[in-house]
Amino acid sequence: MIELRSDTLTQPTPGMRAAIAAAVVGDEQKREDPTVLELERRGAELLGHEEAVFLPTATMANQIALRILGEPGDVLLADRNAHVMIAEQGGPSVHSGLVMQPLDGDAGRFTAEQVRSSVNDHRSGHAPRTRLVALENTNNSAGGRIWPLAEIDAVVETCRELDLRVHLDGARLLNASVATSIPAAEVGARFDTVTLCLSKGLGCPLGALLAGSEELMVKARRGKHLFGGAMRQAGIVAAAGVYAFEHHIARLEEDHARARRLAEGLCQAGLPVELDAVETNFVQLDVAPLGLDKAGALARLRDEGIGLSGTPHPTKLRAVTHLDVSDDDIERAIELIPRALGVFAHA
Ligand SMILES: Cc1ncc(COP(=O)(O)O)c(C=O)c1O
Repeated sequence: MIELRSDTLTQPTPGMRAAIAAAVVGDEQKREDPTVLELERRGAELLGHEEAVFLPTATMANQIALRILGEPGDVLLADRNAHVMIAEQGGPSVHSGLVMQPLDGDAGRFTAEQVRSSVNDHRSGHAPRTRLVALENTNNSAGGRIWPLAEIDAVVETCRELDLRVHLDGARLLNASVATSIPAAEVGARFDTVTLCLSKGLGCPLGALLAGSEELMVKARRGKHLFGGAMRQAGIVAAAGVYAFEHHIARLEEDHARARRLAEGLCQAGLPVELDAVETNFVQLDVAPLGLDKAGALARLRDEGIGLSGTPHPTKLRAVTHLDVSDDDIERAIELIPRALGVFAHA
């Protein structure tokens, strides 16, 4: 099986497993686990903030961020298909009492004008207070798309002017950073809080970081305990994160190159792939022009030994490259995907 469903499906490498086995650990809840402390120190630096908090998942990181940035009844603005909107079980409203107001973004990105025109005038005493804005970079639903820094600046500047708090769901921020050569810290520092996921392109079995100011991270640690995320000898997994920071960041470039090669190969074979939309490790493929639906196309691909997955788009599938996908896998996928979908390359 060539596994292109998600970059969450990686197996820890032998080097990562050795780092896990050798981890020095302590009671993380008491802040006595040296490996967790080391990961948090490095994470804060990497993300451009004073402090970072180690958490089991990026979902928990997002949810804690939204909880500490807003109050019940506040409005959260985010792209309609952002992970916090469609893939966290309605968490912002459940955990934090937020009103979730979707914005219609383009490639997962909305504009400063959209933010401005969506802000409620709560002085009337009727409308809920617009308080939080969440950006996602890279954007998962749109296919690993990157927010250009100038667009981030325009949105964040408007948020500051309107006294709105800004969270970055940077689950895949390092993919954006490697693709643009802009340090993650430079992007992260613009936000009040930043989530980074360790179990996607970085290849860890689990884990995430939430970064922000010292003051906000005190609140985040309370939230971590409240959400049941305060662990014990968590250095066992934090060791994978430290290892990934040393060995798995620069190599994301390889995942991006493989995604591009895959996209080009599929295009050449006559498949409807938008090459310009391939910016990091995702390739999206529209099956509608092939007369197929998503479920039927996925079943055909599975039968040929290729794992792709769906997107929120009604007719688009995605292939995601990661640590466990080799150049040979990509060449084989370029042969098998068109064949599975009934498309044959012109000689
Ligand atoms: C953009 C984004 N944010 C957050 C998450 C949540 O990550 P986790 O599965 O670690 O909770 C994901 C997972 O796919 C994601 O793609």
